[in-house]
Amino acid sequence: MSSQKSASRQVICQKFTINFQYSVFFTRNCFDVQDSTLIDLIDNLSESPKLLAIIDEGVDQTNPDLAVRIEQYCEHHNIQSLPSMIVPAGEDCKNDGSVIDDIYSAVEKYEIDRHSYILVVGGGAVVDAVGFAAATAHRGVRLIRMPSTVLGQNDAGVGVKNAVNYHKRKNFVGTFAPPFAVINDLNLLQTLSPRDKRAGIAEAVKVALIKDPAFFDELYDSRHALAYFEEASTKHMIIKCAQAHLDHIATSGDPFELGSARPLDFGHWSAHKLEELTNNELRHGEAVAIGIALDSIYSGLKGHITQQQVNKIITLLEDVGFDLVHPVLKELNVVKALAEFKEHLGGNLCITLLSDIGTGFEVNQIDEALMAQALDNLMSLN
Ligand SMILES: NC(=O)c1ccc[n+]([C@@H]2O[C@H](COP(=O)([O-])OP(=O)(O)OC[C@H]3O[C@@H](n4cnc5c(N)ncnc54)[C@H](O)[C@@H]3O)[C@@H](O)[C@H]2O)c1
Ligand SMILES: [Zn+2]
Repeated sequence: MSSQKSASRQVICQKFTINFQYSVFFTRNCFDVQDSTLIDLIDNLSESPKLLAIIDEGVDQTNPDLAVRIEQYCEHHNIQSLPSMIVPAGEDCKNDGSVIDDIYSAVEKYEIDRHSYILVVGGGAVVDAVGFAAATAHRGVRLIRMPSTVLGQNDAGVGVKNAVNYHKRKNFVGTFAPPFAVINDLNLLQTLSPRDKRAGIAEAVKVALIKDPAFFDELYDSRHALAYFEEASTKHMIIKCAQAHLDHIATSGDPFELGSARPLDFGHWSAHKLEELTNNELRHGEAVAIGIALDSIYSGLKGHITQQQVNKIITLLEDVGFDLVHPVLKELNVVKALAEFKEHLGGNLCITLLSDIGTGFEVNQIDEALMAQALDNLMSLN
């Protein structure tokens, strides 16, 4: 029976490859009319390019002249600048579906086509939401990202994903869509709150721990400078962290996350849950710092790394200024959070642990009692 069925089956095996390429710039003052970063991206590609700037409300409030500066830059360089849109800050932008509707309406109204540009200036949340709208309007309008937080510049804004929240589920709707380009303007960070500056440092500690022992040492040695956001250390931390994320996307063999492994999600299974439990009162980076501490302690209890190494990781995080003991840890149900993370991965649990400082490895099982012990140890830190 089955052989008869297969005898009548025909198959055409479709296969093609697309090369994605985009540049990530690290610069300052990119809206100074003399600065060519933005115009060099645009000018050779279209005769009269249109650009729609979409700005994070938090950035707009702290940089009230930004929209005008973008308009002046466009005028000076003969880019058709359209009236800027200001969108809600932070998770509100990802929770409120009307933001996406408003962007689609603007795309329609201003006849933005696949050769026009959307320029987004904002934190990781706004970049995510605008990225989703840009990727889906006309099946993809060119998106130039200008992340304005440390976490946006060293992680969220440089990769290939976007998402919005749906029915209170984080990142439930989204696409994989590489940007046209990313411009990390370090001057934008000047108006960022200390809390948001610090939050992004957690992602640098994360990549250093799983991939780059020398980077970990650099972060450790500059931890006091990072705590007060000393310029050179902060810039170095951002560029190296962004580079590590970009390298991973380019070389992991799974840029669109078709498999279950998420090595860059070290410390994230509990972080996602902590963000949810605090109703996003904890910043993503703050939750990741706690998650890194927890999974480092667990790696230590399992005997994969030494207690001395665990202590060094905790010292780095604490000296940078992270508060690793948060009241919400009491509400963290390890079994439930792991089950949810497993579902998020598509059915196979895959958690990154440390076998050394600078080396991550994946496991498919977690000893839940030992993880609960790790959580107790974390809560007893003083
Ligand atoms: N797509 C991805 O690959 C990816 C990766 C990691 C995180 N993320 C997402 O990123 C989001 C977190 O991003 P975030 O940490 O940048 O926080 P955020 O976007 O929530 O911004 C935090 C706050 O900083 C304000 N802000 C931003 N830039 C500012 C500036 N220059 N001056 C003054 N205020 C400014 C914002 O208005 C907001 O109030 C989450 O939604 C997370 O899911 C996405
Ligand atoms: Zn993260």
